[in-house]
Amino acid sequence: MIRKAVIPVAGLGTRLLPLTKALPKEMLPIGDKPVIEHTIRELVDSGIDEITIVTSARKDLVQRHFAPDGDLERELRATGKDGLADAVAELSSLAHITYLYQNGPYGNGTPVLNAARVIGDEPFMVLWADDVFVAEVPRAQQLKSAYEATRAPVLALMPMEVEDAARYGVPIVEEDLGGGRLRISGLVEKPRPEEAPSRYAAIGGYVVTPGVVTELEAATRRWHDDPAGEIYLTDALHRHATGNPVYGQVIDGTWYDTGSPLNYLKAQFAAVLAHPAYGPELRKLALEG
Ligand code: G1P
Repeated sequence: MIRKAVIPVAGLGTRLLPLTKALPKEMLPIGDKPVIEHTIRELVDSGIDEITIVTSARKDLVQRHFAPDGDLERELRATGKDGLADAVAELSSLAHITYLYQNGPYGNGTPVLNAARVIGDEPFMVLWADDVFVAEVPRAQQLKSAYEATRAPVLALMPMEVEDAARYGVPIVEEDLGGGRLRISGLVEKPRPEEAPSRYAAIGGYVVTPGVVTELEAATRRWHDDPAGEIYLTDALHRHATGNPVYGQVIDGTWYDTGSPLNYLKAQFAAVLAHPAYGPELRKLALEG
């Protein structure tokens, strides 16, 4: 059973600068909620509500968004704005969130290892906050079901155009098991298109098992001997896949990589047009424009 998840947010958000100089990319709105809130609601909707956010000092707005604010709530209630007070209160009771400061070598394996030391010896989910999905069954639930069926590490996949290979981890597919489930024997991080081992991209969702954490620990020990390297989750999964089962799950849904400017705007545009209250009016505006 997966009960816990990790969301790394310590990245600098360089692709969206200067917008993200002061405002963390995880706090950019999609519709009327920041990116990270979509990710947390996705986890909660999938039955995972113990969440470790691995952060940095410059991302304090993320913590403030989910922190209780009794003064604000009291003020809203005193002025009859109970609906808003309830919405503010709901944010701080959405999930059990703990925060850790990222500490260690450069690379996305480090926040996962930081969190694993707190979580201990059980499988957990890792979601990059900037890969946002609109899906009937949440991506996290699809990943969780794949783990429950396989009891092995699972990564979320989407079909990609081969020319985009250099932006993603690309799996080596061993066997197509049907229903979007693939057995994979390794991963290549950001290959050149002509070297891409498949037409799938790893898209920011992983079920990590203690065996994968052991590989991250080994990578960190190697880094201490030779600090020129970086620690990547993809490499740890690749090493684990040599001799152990690892699976990919092609996610049913629409994917927005909100860490890139155009895709962030696409996600925002789609969410705005789908807004339950304001969508119809905004669609009219978009057509006139
Ligand atoms: C990271 C991973 C990569 C994955 C991608 C998905 O890369 O290293 O394997 O495909 O996220 O968004 P980044 O986008 O941080 O460079």
